[in-house]
Amino acid sequence: MIEAKSLTMVYGNSKKAVDDVSFTIQKGEIVGFAGPNGAGKTTVIKMLTGILKPTSGTASINGFDITKDAMKAKMSFAYIADNPDILIQLTGLEFLNFIADMYEVPEDKRKDRITALSERFGMADVLNTRMKDYSHGMRQKLMVISALIHEPPAWILDEPMTGLDPSAAYELKQMMREHAAKGNAVLFSTHVLEVAEQLCDRILIIDKGRIVEQGTLDDLKNANPGLSLEEIFVRLTGRPEETHE
Ligand SMILES: Nc1ncnc2c1ncn2[C@@H]1O[C@H](COP(=O)(O)OP(=O)(O)OP(=O)(O)O)[C@@H](O)[C@H]1O
Ligand SMILES: [Mg+2]
Repeated sequence: MIEAKSLTMVYGNSKKAVDDVSFTIQKGEIVGFAGPNGAGKTTVIKMLTGILKPTSGTASINGFDITKDAMKAKMSFAYIADNPDILIQLTGLEFLNFIADMYEVPEDKRKDRITALSERFGMADVLNTRMKDYSHGMRQKLMVISALIHEPPAWILDEPMTGLDPSAAYELKQMMREHAAKGNAVLFSTHVLEVAEQLCDRILIIDKGRIVEQGTLDDLKNANPGLSLEEIFVRLTGRPEETHE
């Protein structure tokens, strides 16, 4: 459902930020994407979602090529960017309606979804507040809600838990599980290996633009007997992972 084929990115004249990255995420899978700062996670995600044009390689979502069939591909996924700080004058509700318009979500469905999602994330009372007056975590929650409003099959989330309070993080994790259990695909990047351990069917580890390991938690642990995921990560990437998100 989410497929990367030999994705490569060179920014300007620098060396490859992403080098020949390939993976497939099947329906029903939750896959975690881990790697040190600057390893290339966000760059891969931006190529998958059509925000960045790869130097070479292709990506497809739900069977649609992100460049050749861009509209269909873009209708097929929810994307949460790594930075929710869109300081605009709209209220939360105006922003959600704007996104719902873009995805052509019918009036009746959008009302129900906005109500259900904003209640789930404790945002119902602040939807009429301007986004510029939200806290960081409130903006992140609004981004989560807006990403899910068209109920797309694939979720592509760049550090979605950053800044969320424990209840919202819990809700989002539950939603990721529910979404995958319905036969959809979820890819999320994270610096918190415990979250990856809790949620993922598989983990991709990227370092210096290349996938250095991928497999189930059991695969990784069997290949590295006696080591925790954190120790495996440090062994593969040579640097300690951050302990916060
Ligand atoms: N717009 C850009 N122009 C030039 N270089 C960039 C640009 N964006 C990212 N890079 C470089 O590409 C590499 C990968 O960055 P990227 O943001 O994909 O890493 P990341 O794995 O998401 O890191 P983090 O964990 O800190 O979010 C880094 O060396 C970074 O400096
Ligand atoms: Mg990033």
